[in-house]
Amino acid sequence: MDIRIFNDAEEIGVAAAELYRELLTEKPNAVLGLATGATPVPTYKNLIKLCNEGKISFKDVTTFNLDEYCDLDKNDKNSYYTFMHENLFNSIDIMEENVNFLDGNTADCDAESKRYAEAIKAAGGIDLQLLGIGTNGHIAFNEPADKFTDEAFKVTLTQSTINSNQKYFGDVPMPRYAMTMGIGSIMRSKKILLIATGESKANAIKALISGNVTPQIPCSILNEHPDTVIMLDKEAASLIK
Ligand code: GLP
Repeated sequence: MDIRIFNDAEEIGVAAAELYRELLTEKPNAVLGLATGATPVPTYKNLIKLCNEGKISFKDVTTFNLDEYCDLDKNDKNSYYTFMHENLFNSIDIMEENVNFLDGNTADCDAESKRYAEAIKAAGGIDLQLLGIGTNGHIAFNEPADKFTDEAFKVTLTQSTINSNQKYFGDVPMPRYAMTMGIGSIMRSKKILLIATGESKANAIKALISGNVTPQIPCSILNEHPDTVIMLDKEAASLIK
């Protein structure tokens, strides 16, 4: 793993966007795996800036988002579909037909999982998968578990994730379930970029860096990926020796 430490989230946003600029310069039709949460917002701001300046274009890019809440309309203000449109897609030149999400309201999770896996395969696989990290070490919504998952599935969110993410929903109770890409789908990405900022992520980062691979710390699997870059601010890196 290639670990890079920055002063703050803003610096990470610039550095992460530069990785995308390099990739899109080399491969304008790259396939991007995208993430939600507060962490990638500075990266998305810098991607919008580069796009507005004409330095990158998303017109031939295909995207696959990691996860989506269940029991929320896709146009709900708290859906990840809405989040991505408000924080990135509405401000860049991407084609809506190239934007892919798991359907959090599917009646057939297995069929939905197959559909997503086939769509990723048909697009040629994910070139660069962006990840945040949960305070409990989850990636996408792969919560601590007894074994690593493979393709997308419906997950029951843990209390720790609900405690962390309820703030985004205000007074409305947040969903208890989500559809998420599995660990296998994430690990098949050609390159992975994990970003973590803030003290609340320091323990998960310490566990990741320790090198002990266990499904109880889902992010730990990244130790087995051949091309993972980890960008941390000082707070998230504070427990690394
Ligand atoms: C959610 C998402 C994850 C994300 C995590 C951290 O649980 N499913 O993909 O990494 O939140 O979010 P934040 O960046 O807001 O801390």
